Amino acid sequence: MSRYEKLLEVRKLHKYYSKDVVSTKALNGISFDVLKGEYLGIMGASGSGKTTLLNCIATVIKPTSGQILLSGVDISSFDGTKLSEYRGNKIGYLFQDFALLDNLTGKENILLPLSIHNVAMVTAEKKLNEIASFLGITDVLSKLPSQMSGGQKQRVAAARCLISDPDIILADEPTGALDTKAARLLMEKLSEINQKEEHTILMVTYDPNAASFCSRILFIQDGVIFHELRRNIFEETREDFYSRILQVMAQLGGGSANVL
Ligand SMILES: Nc1ncnc2c1ncn2[C@@H]1O[C@H](COP(=O)(O)OP(=O)(O)OP(=O)(O)O)[C@@H](O)[C@H]1O
Ligand SMILES: [Mg+2]
Repeated sequence: MSRYEKLLEVRKLHKYYSKDVVSTKALNGISFDVLKGEYLGIMGASGSGKTTLLNCIATVIKPTSGQILLSGVDISSFDGTKLSEYRGNKIGYLFQDFALLDNLTGKENILLPLSIHNVAMVTAEKKLNEIASFLGITDVLSKLPSQMSGGQKQRVAAARCLISDPDIILADEPTGALDTKAARLLMEKLSEINQKEEHTILMVTYDPNAASFCSRILFIQDGVIFHELRRNIFEETREDFYSRILQVMAQLGGGSANVL
């Protein structure tokens, strides 16, 4: 496979939410490509359409119009086995609100994707222990989500997303509830998965530090792209890229508070 293979093609995607007479244009004809092995950041103000975009890619919701192609095939044509294969194996979704099941323990939540796909218990437990220890959540595995802190829930959700080793990771503000150390560990994990295993990542983030791990960043406003930054992987350090991200945030919004 070519390093420059288009894995996802988002084509003129519109999503309107209508309720009674009120209609919200969450996505307004957004188009972009994602190459295989890219680590794409998505930044933008609250309400700019970031979660809606990930939800369309994950087939959680249907776009009003436009297409999303996976290796050239429209994902809206997937049904039955193809659709569950896409949702279950191809993509891993780290939801903004974690979406843990309340009546399952941390361990059960994390193992859920594997149990659905009949992965052997020994293999599953081994993977679980590795990822839980890396993310520092071993001691909450037997707890219910209601007994966990926000940051612990977010790491359990991250472990659940990563355990099935998906080709495409959709992460919606994955460090939002994490302290600096936990955020750095998760960013390191995502970078490792991206670089060593060439898995593709789409990550929504408000955090310029987290964004500096990306190879390219799309800035979204009102459901369309209004700016793009690309990291020069060979010549630019992460610190230099971080400075450029801050500059764009300042230029575009008169300060990070306005852009993000
Ligand atoms: N289910 C829904 N019904 C109606 N409107 C919705 C729904 N979901 C989102 N919206 C609206 O669509 C727009 C985009 O929402 P979205 O959740 O995609 O934003 P976002 O960029 O992820 O914001 P945030 O950074 O706050 O998470 C917002 O104006 C929001 O109010
Ligand atoms: Mg969101």
